[in-house]
Amino acid sequence: MKIAVGSDHAGFELKKAIVEWLQRNGHECNDMGPYTDESVDYPDYARKVAETVAGGEADQGVLICGTGIGVSIAANKVRGIRAALACNPEFATLARQHNNANIICFSARFSDFSTIEKSLENWFAAEFEGGRHERRVNKIEPCC
Ligand code: RB5
Repeated sequence: MKIAVGSDHAGFELKKAIVEWLQRNGHECNDMGPYTDESVDYPDYARKVAETVAGGEADQGVLICGTGIGVSIAANKVRGIRAALACNPEFATLARQHNNANIICFSARFSDFSTIEKSLENWFAAEFEGGRHERRVNKIEPCC
């Protein structure tokens, strides 16, 4: 799969490890930055990744910041994006199965790498279940 990846400074080191994991596991990665650990603003990178996924230039996205919360909030402002913060591997599975999430977000400060690896495995193994979940996902629309 083509995966767009981005972070802020807090997620910079973890992003490198995630890009390596993705490449090792056969994915084509578009690392959208940042490329140093200099302080940056997470909405800038969340937007880049979200627009890349929404525009179809990537199949899915991965975003990382200190908590994962900021990048989730920012990415979800882009129409067509369903960004889910995965606090554990079960969240990653359910975000795909029930929410058809297209961006997975991680916390660099509160998640260990083995949890993140397992979450990525689950994310790529899971499929959207459709049915009642499709009806619900279709109701997620900007309302103002
Ligand atoms: C940066 O210090 C931190 O605020 C950011 O990485 C993120 O956690 C925001 O949600």
